[in-house]
Amino acid sequence: MARILITSAIPYINGIKHLGNLVGSQLPADLFARYMRARGHEVMFICATDEHGTPAELAAAKAGKPVEAYCADMHAVQAELARGFRLSFDHFGRSSSQRNHRLTQHFAGKLDEAGLIAEVSEKQVFSIDDNRFLPDRYITGTCPNCGYDAARGDQCENCTKQLDPTDLINPRSSISGSTNLEVRETKHLFLRQRSLRDKLEAWIDSKTDWPILTTSIAKKWLNDGDGLQDRGITRDLHWGIPVRKGDQPWPGMEGKVFYVWFDAPIEYIAGTAEWADANGLPDAAWERWWRTDKGAQDVTYYQFMGKDNVPFHTLSFPATILGSGEPWKLVDYLKSFNYLNYDGGQFSTSQGRGIFMDMALSILPADYWRWWLLSHAPESSDSEFTWENFQSSVNKDLADVLGNLVSRVTKFATAKFGTTIPAGGSFGPQETALIADLGARIRDYESCMEAMEVRKAAAELRAIWVIGNEYLQSAAPWTVVKTDPDRAQAMVRLSLNLIRIYAILSQPFIPDAAASMMAAMGSDDWTWPSDLPEAMRILQPGQTFSVPENLFRKITDEERTDWQQRFSGIRA
Ligand code: 2FM
Ligand code: ZN
Repeated sequence: MARILITSAIPYINGIKHLGNLVGSQLPADLFARYMRARGHEVMFICATDEHGTPAELAAAKAGKPVEAYCADMHAVQAELARGFRLSFDHFGRSSSQRNHRLTQHFAGKLDEAGLIAEVSEKQVFSIDDNRFLPDRYITGTCPNCGYDAARGDQCENCTKQLDPTDLINPRSSISGSTNLEVRETKHLFLRQRSLRDKLEAWIDSKTDWPILTTSIAKKWLNDGDGLQDRGITRDLHWGIPVRKGDQPWPGMEGKVFYVWFDAPIEYIAGTAEWADANGLPDAAWERWWRTDKGAQDVTYYQFMGKDNVPFHTLSFPATILGSGEPWKLVDYLKSFNYLNYDGGQFSTSQGRGIFMDMALSILPADYWRWWLLSHAPESSDSEFTWENFQSSVNKDLADVLGNLVSRVTKFATAKFGTTIPAGGSFGPQETALIADLGARIRDYESCMEAMEVRKAAAELRAIWVIGNEYLQSAAPWTVVKTDPDRAQAMVRLSLNLIRIYAILSQPFIPDAAASMMAAMGSDDWTWPSDLPEAMRILQPGQTFSVPENLFRKITDEERTDWQQRFSGIRA
């Protein structure tokens, strides 16, 4: 039994996530966690909400709530949606937790002790009416290059020119519209990542099994321009983790907070500590996942994220860990994803374009979405959600292939032999061939799952379902029963056992349907079918089974067009 630590990129607190966010991190991480647990490994699966930063403050102001209350409410909303999608986190934490405050301050203190923090004075725009410093992108003005009157302080959207806020003509605060701005001097802490460059490069080079997407992004940032830039890790904001050196004040940094991207990945560790607290466990319980001097030396750590998060996880967060000089666990395998597009364009949170987690669950159960998203995960390139494709995948794969098999077998068995597993006959060459074929397929499926090849794993699973249908089609117990009822009984017995095995194999993808299938087979034995011939005999003659209610239903053309229209517009 191995020990496996899994983290998913932690979603921003502001707003409900869309399906593109879900498939880029939390959902594939859940697939992997479920699979690893099913194989009997000890798994720790952590996610959280990413609660700091200007967007959270602004969203709270827009909602008319104090930021703490807004974050608490949105955390509850996101946690409920995660449950709805059956995301099996061991803990869904909060980056605003006291655990994260203490750990973030601890890391900053250690980095300072190691001489890796520089204090830098900068000039920044201060909005007198908003009583705050404005991040570059929250300053609007006229572009000096093209004259566009709503250019942002970091870049003009119209002509794409990179800007400094001081370049803008007639600058104003994007928060209040106020033009009462001035440039003020402010001091910030910088993490001297540049001096860790060689260490980081050696570490990345040692990861020969990482996906190309991950390594190419890491290398690009390591080598681009003058190479790795030192990074500001503090901000002049009200909401965030106060800048402290461990448990001591940091002179000159009063009233400032750590930058959201500094504290967010530390929440992976803090979230595990929150898990221990929530379960009344001592520190040793979480430290054995994270401290290589306290048991984590035999943990394998997997991270899941969208490609835009890769630089922070291959460079910045490892710089924090390595720079601390303490024995913290570094990631072993980083699985990154491309983007999922929506019906000819992009998913957009700001424009409300696409399908959001709450809307998805309001029209169909989680399994339908899980199956489509995972079987179309944007691994080697961006992929696209279309309603036509969704309808056809659900109807073919889930309803026609898997659902139909389960329904045909259980209905036929009930009609002919009643609701107990029939005892007649014995397995013949057809069954032996099926078991051999299936055994080989299961090994392929396992290889894909272990390699986190999500799409390929889905294709293997589908192939496994197809084999069952083909067997049933060629064995044709409904014909055989007329001349040789004992043989038909053996076929039915095998098919019912097959359904139980399909429940186990399918559970990481479609947990609810898997649970219904297992319950209908009157079993609770989820042992992975490593020994297939034996697994095919677990359901014994005489045991009762039932016909599961509507495992999957088909999506009609009317529904498809209706949903397509409903979700094309702009979400309020
Ligand atoms: O891109 C995002 O949604 C970020 N909130 C991810 C943070 S991942 C990590 F650093 F915690
Ligand atoms: Zn411009």
